[in-house]
Amino acid sequence: MESPFKAEVLKGKVALITGGGSGIGFEISTQFGKHGASIAIMGRRKQVLDFAVSALHSQGIQAVGFEGDVRKQEDAKRVVESTFKHFGSLDILVNAAAGNFLVSAEDLSPNGFRTVMDIDSVGTFTMCHEALKYLKKGGPGRNSSGGGTILNISATLHYTASWYQIHVSAAKAAVDATTRNLALEWGTDYDIRVNGIAPGPISDTPGMSKLAPDEINSRSKDYMPLYKLGEKWDIAMAAIYLASDAGKFINGTILIVDGGLWLSRPRH
Ligand code: HXC
Repeated sequence: MESPFKAEVLKGKVALITGGGSGIGFEISTQFGKHGASIAIMGRRKQVLDFAVSALHSQGIQAVGFEGDVRKQEDAKRVVESTFKHFGSLDILVNAAAGNFLVSAEDLSPNGFRTVMDIDSVGTFTMCHEALKYLKKGGPGRNSSGGGTILNISATLHYTASWYQIHVSAAKAAVDATTRNLALEWGTDYDIRVNGIAPGPISDTPGMSKLAPDEINSRSKDYMPLYKLGEKWDIAMAAIYLASDAGKFINGTILIVDGGLWLSRPRH
């Protein structure tokens, strides 16, 4: 689908996207690139990174991949610094890296719980922490236009409760809390806007194929009248809105992009 935004809406911006080589992260990388941004992708798997970067290059997008695990502070620091060295600034950080699997609370080991917390919650904070120096107003590579911006990708499953997702619910709740608290502290002190996006079920993503096998999907459609899948494009458009000047007065918001699904109840 064609973008409703002007092609230069992110012109001159440099975006670092964790988990940017696949799924929702890759669509954000692509759409940011198509709208003028230079893209750095961070991910653990070299093959995935290489494939994603060549796909971006083939669309005329300036892009580079950096291997790294958001669970390691030294990786976060190195990738943020490398992005700055490569492009000369850092304007947008998108935390899209996430880990997930379906498991009952009874069968989930504490280490399994911790692993997802480490990737989603601690990883998001670590990336923000390491990027602060470059994002803050007056930081290296920043002109007089103020601070940069952060987007944290969470979910809607912690608004209620979700079967076999206790670890992810806890982790995404922490991501949303991190978004609001950084928006308060860093918005005030450093002119950095920090917002989140909470996607509903999005088709053609690792999350959907892992978390909602076909049989769950078709059953859901039977009893949830509003049940429909979003597209990765929907999340990327929300990301452009929040990261661009269109969202210049938006700070500390978590934008739900789910077609209203989380509110839905079966018809009587
Ligand atoms: C039960 C599991 C498990 C499973 C791992 N563990 N997979 N427990 N069921 N299927 C437990 C392990 O037993 C271990 O605990 C601990 O978790 C760490 O496992 P490792 O395999 O060592 O972890 P690691 O290799 O680091 O892999 C991390 C991962 C992996 C999260 C398990 O799946 C991953 O990295 N995935 C990233 C890609 C991904 O999932 N993307 C989709 C995100 S979708 P013990 O106790 O045995 O040591 C998404 C959407 C959210 O986030 C919102 C949806 C609505």
